[in-house]
Amino acid sequence: MDRLGYAVDNLYGFFHYTTLSRLPERLAVPLGRWLFKRMPLEWFDIYDTRDERLEVDLDGLKLPNPVILAACYHDPKILEKAMRLGFGAVVGKATREPREGNPEPTILRKGKGFVNSDGYQNQGVEELKGIFREIRGDIPLGVSITGDSIDDYLYVVGELGPFVDFMELNLGCPNTDYGLSFYSKPERTRDLFKGARMCTSKPLIVKVARGERYSDTNFGVIVPNAIREGIRIIDHANTLEVEEPRFHRGIGALSGPELFEDTKGNVGNLHTEFGKDIRIIATGGIDDPGKAYRAMRRGASAVGFITGFITEGPMLPRRINEYIIERLKESGIKNIQDVTGAFWL
Ligand SMILES: Cc1cc2nc3c(=O)[nH]c(=O)nc-3n(C[C@H](O)[C@H](O)[C@H](O)COP(=O)(O)O)c2cc1C
Repeated sequence: MDRLGYAVDNLYGFFHYTTLSRLPERLAVPLGRWLFKRMPLEWFDIYDTRDERLEVDLDGLKLPNPVILAACYHDPKILEKAMRLGFGAVVGKATREPREGNPEPTILRKGKGFVNSDGYQNQGVEELKGIFREIRGDIPLGVSITGDSIDDYLYVVGELGPFVDFMELNLGCPNTDYGLSFYSKPERTRDLFKGARMCTSKPLIVKVARGERYSDTNFGVIVPNAIREGIRIIDHANTLEVEEPRFHRGIGALSGPELFEDTKGNVGNLHTEFGKDIRIIATGGIDDPGKAYRAMRRGASAVGFITGFITEGPMLPRRINEYIIERLKESGIKNIQDVTGAFWL
């Protein structure tokens, strides 16, 4: 990384440590987003690590590098800016109708991460079509979808398909009423996956729920159903549902470093069991280059994060990508795809 890159990295670290991490959340969150939208971060040519050794192909979804900004943001200005910060892909979010999200507070600090009660705040399909049509960027833009019924999911897939590069069926959201309901009748995912596959030819991802009580269903029903219906990209995983009396529903969604061991373990198990049939995105607790690389050695083809982006700042994608290139050089490997599942490296 050049001097300017280090300077931006250090400045962000200083600002986060002295200001964002100390202000009450109700001020820190809007301040962070306000500044992010207005600071001309993308003016500097310091984020990209274009290098063909980093290119990955997730069952037809081609990314310039394996670092994904996971679903969280619905503001088009934030998404468009994030697409210029060295990520390999960026994910927005959608439901059929507009949603205001849950009442405040919606994000609180918890340990080294956050607990959120976001409630899928977004503009709804009609407005999102215009938004996604307008967003410019030279990396893939995807959208994370949830709904109150299978019909809702399929409607969004069908309507937004032409305007995005890929779609993620989110089955693991603790913050909406329907969010985790597939886990009480997991066989219904077969209808969802079959329907979604028929509604679009764009790459589809299934993002599964996290937590011991969902794990058997992920391995026993949901991933096998996805494979059977031709969806071969699995994102492990969403946040962890935790009790949180400060939120109106009494529960919240934990993100951040506490999730990493669970992410790594489950990615490894998914790779062992289904590795020849699926491509895995490891999401949850990745906030430094070493963790990203370890998740890939366990079996991930790409990594996603949100909390790390907030706590570590805009240079994290580049730091991860440069770290990967260094490791590839050391081990004489030609492409990051050969690291997937190579735990001995
Ligand atoms: C404020 C917030 C909003 C989120 N919204 C979504 C969403 O709309 N759809 C989704 O699939 N995941 C959503 N997530 C989950 C993240 O995409 C990710 O799976 C989770 O935060 C774990 O990654 P992390 O530890 O890097 O944050 C959200 C997370 C946060 C913190």
